[in-house]
Amino acid sequence: MPTAPFHPAPLIAPNLLAADFTRLGEEVDAITKAGADWLHLDIMDGHFVPNISFGPSVVQALRAKTALPFDVHLMINPVDPYLEAFAKAGANHILIHVEAGPHIHRSLERIHSLGVKAGIVLCPATPLEAITEIMDLVDIVLVMTVNPGFGGQKFLHSQLNKISRLRHMITQTNRNIHLAVDGGIDISTAPLARQAGANVLIAGSAVYGKTDYAQAIAALRTAHCPT
Ligand code: DX5
Ligand code: ZN
Repeated sequence: MPTAPFHPAPLIAPNLLAADFTRLGEEVDAITKAGADWLHLDIMDGHFVPNISFGPSVVQALRAKTALPFDVHLMINPVDPYLEAFAKAGANHILIHVEAGPHIHRSLERIHSLGVKAGIVLCPATPLEAITEIMDLVDIVLVMTVNPGFGGQKFLHSQLNKISRLRHMITQTNRNIHLAVDGGIDISTAPLARQAGANVLIAGSAVYGKTDYAQAIAALRTAHCPT
């Protein structure tokens, strides 16, 4: 199995789900100042995943707080009725689950028509074959390294092989597609994901669960496997 070369510094996308919900505006401001590259926003509907988070009105309220790209992860189905609302609320990327319905190709085209970057997300049980026909439509592929719905879960090492096969698949497209990982990313699992081929690290507890956000982000960015 080809192992991808150790990537240059990864992009770090702190996950707002792990922030202090009594001070969301301040938390967005703080993470911007701490050097985050993107802000990951988990949207959960209590139907596609067994948890409910927040909707487009919260995304819109936070939009004015930062210039960071909003990386909006829709753990909802159906997705189509809500794409425009999240685009209008200020999403820069809208990521939808390949498991969220039968017309994902059309949903990805719709996301592009809204002027937003399109991402596809794979649950741990979903094989890469599920996205071979839509690689020309995505800007980001997100591999879930936990079962979606909650923060603070343990990293699924079983996904590392999928990540390295996906990196190989992306290389063959000759397109600049981001490979993101999401779930259980911390200073010990970040280097494993990077070595497998991820170049975007999404992290909730490993950043917002710490007191010094800048230090936490820098630690994730520079974390290396023990030699
Ligand atoms: C799970 C979410 C992940 C999760 C990450 O459904 O998509 O973003 O909240 O949380 P940590 O980084 O704490 O595992
Ligand atoms: Zn997420």
